[in-house]
Amino acid sequence: MKILKDKNIVLGVSGGIAAYKAPELLRILQKAGAKVRVVMTKNARDFISPLTFEALCGHKVLFDLFDGSYTSAIGHIDLAKDCDAAVIAPATANVIGKLANGIADDALTTFMLAAKGRKILCPAMNEAMYENAAVKRNIMKLEADDYIIMEPSEGELACKTKGKGRLADCDKIADGICEALTTKDLIWKKILVTAGPTREFIDPVRFISNPSSGKMGYAIAAAAKKRGGNVVLVSGPTYLEHPEGVKFIKVVSANQMADTTFINAPDADIIIKAAAVSDYRAEKFFEHKLKKGLADKVSLSFCKNTDILKEIGLNKKKEQILIGFAAETEDLEKNAFKKLKEKNLDIIIGNIVGKPGSGFEADTNKAVLFFKSGKKKVLPVMDKGELADIILSRCLTL
Ligand code: CTP
Repeated sequence: MKILKDKNIVLGVSGGIAAYKAPELLRILQKAGAKVRVVMTKNARDFISPLTFEALCGHKVLFDLFDGSYTSAIGHIDLAKDCDAAVIAPATANVIGKLANGIADDALTTFMLAAKGRKILCPAMNEAMYENAAVKRNIMKLEADDYIIMEPSEGELACKTKGKGRLADCDKIADGICEALTTKDLIWKKILVTAGPTREFIDPVRFISNPSSGKMGYAIAAAAKKRGGNVVLVSGPTYLEHPEGVKFIKVVSANQMADTTFINAPDADIIIKAAAVSDYRAEKFFEHKLKKGLADKVSLSFCKNTDILKEIGLNKKKEQILIGFAAETEDLEKNAFKKLKEKNLDIIIGNIVGKPGSGFEADTNKAVLFFKSGKKKVLPVMDKGELADIILSRCLTL
């Protein structure tokens, strides 16, 4: 969301029932630091008052092409000049049809034709309308004209039917705007990311694992996707929704993660191993649940799992970039450099677990980047998404 800071975003609202969700989107964009202005169609005013948007964004809403009280006589041109992104949410079939055919007969469509920057449409309508051949044709035309279409979601619609036609979730729309504004510096690059914990089952109901949430790896996958990368995310069990548009492969054990990673590694340009892999697995898997019985103590024996990162490091091609993580409880620098050397890495991202704002389940991380050259960069506590972007930018400088 950092990319939205100080960006000029114009929010277009057209006349559909989902217009009531537009103020929520406006607030999300504002919270991320964007400067938001609103343009409405006349029909939209039947669903929501311009006053709502004026109170939230502190600026007059443009809905009349000939409104002399706007900042200048040609308000739509003023807005169009400095616009970084224009997003219409909701976009009705009518507005979509007009834009696909270059019709500019009101403030919103006239503004859109003049607007610079990225253009994003978020259709919301009855399912049958969305499936209509003319609407589909218009959407395809607009995609060819470089418009970004944020597909509606499925669910119950205002007309009491169920289907695809609900306005995309506001957080997803905001994410889509971020992606649209992000420089595509990873285009044509394959980025392989591993994330989350692994589980080593002892019997059908018990396993050993660790508290990794997968947040760091998922943040890297999302950031790489936004930057145009072709992303493969191999993940152990997590409760997270995987980023849209990445190839997602779910695994459970370290052995499964190893197999999947080895298949995907040879043609990857950048490999980032953020997963917290179990170093050991139970030597014997008990087919049936182990019973308590009479024993007060039990002991199990474990055998070593493959060190996936080390194996990839051994076979690393010259042009590949390999990045690992080191979660330590002590001697961060010493341990991180040791792992960097042993696993033939370009960068290792070290962090001390258990510190405030850092570690397995937090949304933030306090990391130190250790480089092959022997240098290091200490970073402050930051959002995992921000750290993901720093790591990817470093990859590009290597
Ligand atoms: N890693 C891996 N396969 C393993 C163990 C670790 O690929 N079987 C990777 C992790 O994904 C991480 C890096 O190696 O990127 C370091 O993992 P970490 O658990 O910090 O260190 P280990 O190498 O397991 O060493 P130790 O447990 O002794 O600290």
